[in-house]
Amino acid sequence: MICDNLTLSEDGKHLLFAGQDTVELAEKYGTPVYLLDEDKIREKCRKYKSAFKKYFGSESVPLYASKANSFKGIYKIMAEEGMGIDVVSAGEIYTAFMAGYDLSRAYFHSNNKTDADITYAMEKGVGYFVCDNEEELHAIQNEAKKRNMKQKILLRLTPGIDPHTFEAISTGKVDSKFGTPIETGQAKDITEKALSLSNIDLKGFHCHVGSQVFAEDVFERGARVMLEFIAQMKEDLGYEACELDLGGGYGVRYTDGDPYLDIDKKVSEVAKAAKDACKELGINLPVIHMEPGRSIVADAGMVLYTVGSIKRIPGYKNYVSVDGGMSDSPRYALYKASYTCLAANKMDENCDFTASVVGRLCESGDIIQEKVNLPSSIQRGDIIALCTAGAYHYSMSSNYNRLPKPATIMLRNGNENYVAIKGETLEDIIRNDL
Ligand code: LLP
Repeated sequence: MICDNLTLSEDGKHLLFAGQDTVELAEKYGTPVYLLDEDKIREKCRKYKSAFKKYFGSESVPLYASKANSFKGIYKIMAEEGMGIDVVSAGEIYTAFMAGYDLSRAYFHSNNKTDADITYAMEKGVGYFVCDNEEELHAIQNEAKKRNMKQKILLRLTPGIDPHTFEAISTGKVDSKFGTPIETGQAKDITEKALSLSNIDLKGFHCHVGSQVFAEDVFERGARVMLEFIAQMKEDLGYEACELDLGGGYGVRYTDGDPYLDIDKKVSEVAKAAKDACKELGINLPVIHMEPGRSIVADAGMVLYTVGSIKRIPGYKNYVSVDGGMSDSPRYALYKASYTCLAANKMDENCDFTASVVGRLCESGDIIQEKVNLPSSIQRGDIIALCTAGAYHYSMSSNYNRLPKPATIMLRNGNENYVAIKGETLEDIIRNDL
């Protein structure tokens, strides 16, 4: 199976996730429902943490990119695991704050922080601002001045690297909406500007090349370009950055065709490239951060659905409709993203029936996955498991068609499960309507 937290019941009929029977979980909590494997999330954090310590030293910490899945419980886990966090909005900052997360360890991103965002983040004591552009730099300076403090920042730069992933999630190219380009000379200008501002404490630089990246050496090339820039700034401005954040982006297995990524090995390769480059360029190795989101939570997650109608259109195609859709799982509709769908209560049957698994929303693009092989006995009431659904599902979910958002259930220790996010009710749907 695509991940080691997927197994079968003794009789081979039921799909187990994190050691627990998904059919029983569907019965207990209802569907659609998000499941999250807490042990897997912690295992990933530990892998990243120990690799960072081993290859970069103990000051270098991984930051969980919480846009992948943001709710109070996950910030508590990140605090317990000693992870830093990347936050992108007042909403994520508030959630982390309410979870008791120490915000001095948070890095605040976004390409357009409003004045209100900046004020809120400083009020809450967010440690670092990852500053995207010059307007923002001045706005941060103004607010820090009012507060009579120095705000630590990293400047987000675009290294001009194409990570060969979906266009919509590729961000490190020169013409990206994110960051300030190195190639055009604008990165040097903004560095000079930041160094001249009295309430800005420029700690270093940031880049993020893209997401769901498998291509070889993308991070090594990113590190190289950024370190060359650091060396250039040392020469031109006498300023040597002490922190470098290389962003997130490692890919995960959605289907059998996707490769396995060994986190320890990947971090060791980036570290080797960075250390070699520093030696060659005559600079010190900065404190290194990375911001994994998807690779921490994706395969710790699953969505369970119940099958409703089955439509066979002879000579054309077949449909299996489930009780959720693009409102809880928008990634196929947005990116045509591939997934593995399994008939969770019929794992021992041959999958000789090919169908599109579709949602219940009033839109033909409401597709979970096309060309899915399922047992031909598939019928109303069967359970469909959508695997690798822990990242960018709940966090990108919507109330389209006024569907309530499903609950998130945490699974741990092979037999414990608990509600981490309550499912929305119909009353929740009209809560803000006047
Ligand atoms: N750091 C920055 C600055 C980012 O923009 C992102 C993702 C990350 C870290 C985390 O990247 P990850 O390790 O999760 O790949 N909604 C899209 C993904 C958008 C990613 C946006 N930025 C999807 O569902 O594929």
